[in-house]
Formats: sequence, C-alpha cells, structure tokens
Amino acid sequence: MKKIAIMTAGGDCAGLNSVIRAVVLTAHHRGVEVVGIEDGYIGFVERKYKPLTLNDVDSIETKGGTILGSSNKECPFHYPVKGKEGEYEDRVQDSIEGLREIGVEGMIVVGGDGTLDSARVIHEAGMPVVGIPKTIDNDMVASEPTIGFQTAIENAVEAIRKLKTTAYSHRRVIVTELMGRTSGYLTLYAGFASGADIILLPEQDYNLKVVCQKVEEIMQSGKRYVIIAAAEACKEQGKEETISRIVSDSFEQKRYGGIAAKLSAEIEEMTGYESRPMVLGHLQRGGEPCTSDILLGTRLGHYAIGLLLDKKAGYIVGTKENTLVKMEFPKTREPRLLDLENNDICEAAKDMGISFGV
Ligand code: F6P
Repeated sequence: MKKIAIMTAGGDCAGLNSVIRAVVLTAHHRGVEVVGIEDGYIGFVERKYKPLTLNDVDSIETKGGTILGSSNKECPFHYPVKGKEGEYEDRVQDSIEGLREIGVEGMIVVGGDGTLDSARVIHEAGMPVVGIPKTIDNDMVASEPTIGFQTAIENAVEAIRKLKTTAYSHRRVIVTELMGRTSGYLTLYAGFASGADIILLPEQDYNLKVVCQKVEEIMQSGKRYVIIAAAEACKEQGKEETISRIVSDSFEQKRYGGIAAKLSAEIEEMTGYESRPMVLGHLQRGGEPCTSDILLGTRLGHYAIGLLLDKKAGYIVGTKENTLVKMEFPKTREPRLLDLENNDICEAAKDMGISFGV
C-alpha cells in the first residue's frame, strides 16, 4: 500500500490523537502516505479529507479529543438523503470510490461499537479496514481496557475529590452521575478510587430504602457527608432507567441522564439530609489523556497499521492482560458488562463497607 486513511468516529475520548500520531509516524517511516478523514462518517461520505504530515502530528498525543473531529450518529449505510427528511440511503460504495480516487488502499477506523460495525461493512464491501476500539465506557469485548477509559477515571476521580470537600463543609449528600451507558466499569472504578460511600451500577438494580438507610448510618456515625457514585443507567428495583433524550438516527439511540437529580431529591425527602446532584457528563471525556491512554493509543495505532500494511485487515485490535490481541469484526454488538461476582474491586468494596444499594 502507498496510501491509507485514518478516521475517528463516535463519542470522543482522550487518547485518540496518540493513535493518529502512531499511525502517521509508522506510515511515514515505511514510505506510506496518510490521509485523515474529518468528522467521522460525515467526512467519509462527504469526502472531507486532509493529508497528514509529520508536522501535523507533532506532540498531538498530549491533546484531548481528536484533531480529525468526530461525529457519533452518522452511519454510512443508513445516511440521510440530502433535502429529503426522514429518508436514508446506503453510501458505502460511493464513499469507498471517493477514497480510491485519491489512491487510498486501506483504512484505520477508531471508534466504539457502532463505528466499528460500520467499519466491518466497509471492509466487507472491499476496502481493507483495521479497527481500533475506544470508549470511556470500557464496554467493548475487543479490548480491556479501551482507549479513553483510564483518563475518564482520572477525570471523574478528580471531580469527586472536589465534591467531597464541599459536601464535608455543608454536611451534605452528593449524588454524582457518571457516564458508561449500560456498563458500570467507569462508575465502579472511579467511585472506588475516589472513596465513594455508595456505588450504584447498571448491572444491579438498587433498593431505595437500603440506599437511604446507608445514608442515615453514615451521617449518624459522625461522618459529615456521603458521596454516591451513580452510573447514568442505574435504576431502582422495579423502575425504568432515566433517559434524557432519544437520538433516533444514532446506533445507540438512548442517551441516559437524570438519575442524580431524581435520587438526590428522593434521598433528601426520605432522610431529611440536604442532598445535591452533580452530573459529571462530558467532563469525563474531555481534557488531556493520562499517560496510560497515550501508551495504549500509541501501541494500538502502531499495531493496526502494521496489520494493514501486512495485508492482514479485517480485524479489531486491542489489549488483553496488557498484551496486544486481535479479533475479527463481530457480527453483533454485545456490550461487555461488569461481572459483579468475579470482580475483585466489587469484592473489596463490599468488604470495606461500601454499599451497592442492595
Ligand atoms: O459512549 C460514550 C458516552 O460518553 C457514554 O458514556 C454516554 O452515555 C454517551 O456517550 C453520551 O453521548 P453524547 O455525547 O451523544 O451525549
């Protein structure tokens, strides 16, 4: 191959730029040109390309987000028809043609499950693709951890530490809401590392009475405050998840949100302790990557372009137990959820008196 393309798509996270840098440096070293596709699948379909030089990627690994931009709902085989609202068409073949016209012979696609599902379709349509998983949710089977997860933990922990000092001053309960969709990894790891008293996960519905009893117990023990780490998709037993919006043309249509406000009001009413909600939101995705995400992104970027140039496309790369691995594109999406019975952090948390609300 003489020219390849790289694209980042889906919700952004920290560590994406280290992938781009690793790909460009390796390609340059091997005499291969790299074209960046801008704004994810929008740029793929609308043919928004830009050449990436060594200069373009100098020191970008320390920057958050992605220098290529991203979009998290467009799908190339279900793409809105211009001027015809509600109508969609398959743009995979003509988008591949667009890349071929500028000499692109293979692609590296960095994204979550939705993005990599479209990458599989592009690969099957004839453009060789290697996929790289990224998401703060850490819910992809292809890699453990995924790019962005470690930085999101750092971001959430930093925020919760700050909330602890104000909660202490005012003798308050603070309910923090963490991202992660249906997977509790981010909430469990950040909650545990930041010293949360109660951790509520999507994998285990909570009992509101138990949560309130725990709040009372902590406040009566002499501790001045309670921190609750609640996953955005956690829910009370017998109740529904709190959904903030439906993005109908997105791969993942549900956007969770609202559990912190709901739970904080219920706790205040049931216990009498003043409570405040705090949605950590997109702060978890933003900012500079931590070093382990830079390392992971760089390793996976280098591994992916190596496979592509060796004509071994059709894989998603990742790490398992800190070793590089690859797997074929899966045909279905199964998010990786926490196995509460076999997780040492869960076990330690319970043993340390942290409540899971059950
Ligand atoms: O999948 C990554 C993620 O940040 C989830 O944790 C969160 O639920 C979702 O994306 C938010 O999406 P958006 O950026 O569209 O609000």
